Amino acid sequence: MHLLLTLTAALCLFSQTLFSDCSHASATATTFAPLPATAGGLPIGPSGYYVESYGDGAYMVTEGAYNVLFLVSDRGVILVDAPPTIGRKLLYAIGNITNLPVTHVVYSHHHSDHIGGAYLFAGKDVKFIAHADTYYQLAQVPNEKTPLPTVTFHEDYILRVGNQTLELSYKGPNHTPGNIFIWAKRQKVLMLVDVVYPGWIPFTYLGVSTNIPGWIAAHDQILEYQFEHYLGGHLGRAGNRTDVELQKEYVLDLFDNCKKTIELSATDNPVVGAAGLQASVLKLNPDNTWAAFKVFLDSTAEYCANVTNQKWLGKLGAADVFGFENAFTMVKALRIDYDILGPGGVR
Ligand SMILES: *[C@@H]1O[C@H](CO)[C@@H](O)[C@H](O)[C@H]1NC(C)=O
Ligand SMILES: *[C@@H]1O[C@H](CO)[C@@H](O)[C@H](O)[C@H]1NC(C)=O
Ligand SMILES: *[C@@H]1O[C@H](CO)[C@@H](O)[C@H](O)[C@H]1NC(C)=O
Ligand SMILES: *[C@@H]1O[C@H](CO)[C@@H](O)[C@H](O)[C@H]1NC(C)=O
Ligand SMILES: [Zn+2]
Repeated sequence: MHLLLTLTAALCLFSQTLFSDCSHASATATTFAPLPATAGGLPIGPSGYYVESYGDGAYMVTEGAYNVLFLVSDRGVILVDAPPTIGRKLLYAIGNITNLPVTHVVYSHHHSDHIGGAYLFAGKDVKFIAHADTYYQLAQVPNEKTPLPTVTFHEDYILRVGNQTLELSYKGPNHTPGNIFIWAKRQKVLMLVDVVYPGWIPFTYLGVSTNIPGWIAAHDQILEYQFEHYLGGHLGRAGNRTDVELQKEYVLDLFDNCKKTIELSATDNPVVGAAGLQASVLKLNPDNTWAAFKVFLDSTAEYCANVTNQKWLGKLGAADVFGFENAFTMVKALRIDYDILGPGGVR
């Protein structure tokens, strides 16, 4: 949609005479393709949240858009993440299962939408555990809602609390620097936030991830674990191996399609050929190099999204909603991380 508007605007600039209606369309009433069954979530009742048990004291809580993990030990509760949108409901979810207090809060990564409710669990003896890069990023923008970690680590950290064990591992930057794998081995539950979105395509701009090669590699790193339940931090259910494999296939498909589109843009293709597009833009906007670049990047991403959606619409939720944004990020990564520069290569 975004790009359609952008392209329409660009085309309006090209020729006011060819296109009669150049007014801005309203984005508020946009409708998208119906969601496939894969995108379904667990039933959220009147309490506003749902708790799923994986046995041996491991639980997932979701309010439909976010999810978290908690482990009940015989000495206290380990909580992983505290999204503000679940907020106090997390206190009730845990309170209905055990009288023991939360003694350890693990941060998957530094993003506020996943940990902005952490202060609700702060207390004199409560430990906050995170990767050192998460500490660094939280300390850059101090915020009382996300207490600074009291325990940090660089590679691996085994958290033992009473009868429960969580293995925390860092394999390098992916969605963000400091985003860790959280493994409850006994219960076969793996959590890695903002990488796989079970049943849906990734959130906008590939989950607004900062290291796309690391984020793509994380799909295989997830599959190295012998997990039964995968918590991605998002939407209304956990995933299984099939969900992870399906998203991996989507991402590799997007990668291939965007790579081919960049290569096509180096030709005189009438839709994405960069030379033709840029000449038209520069004719109307003399010397505006950024304008020429924008139309090239946008048309490349839109073409790649169109090709990708022919396969994925109806297979994963909301392929049409963030298809353009995900393609845009993939085009960006292919150009500057993978050296697939197409018309911007050595000449
Ligand atoms: C640990 O203890 C808690 C509380 O007694 C219990 O619910 C849980 O099943 C136990 N977990 C393991 C892994 O033994
Ligand atoms: C149990 O859950 C209900 C519904 O969410 C909540 O009102 C109540 O406070 C919870 N109980 C405890 C002890 O947290
Ligand atoms: C994985 O989860 C999906 C969606 O809930 C389900 O349709 C599928 O049967 C599951 N696959 C396995 C192997 O459990
Ligand atoms: C993408 O698909 C839309 C809808 O079919 C079409 O209007 C648009 O021109 C296509 N864009 C590109 C760059 O191929
Ligand atoms: Zn995030």
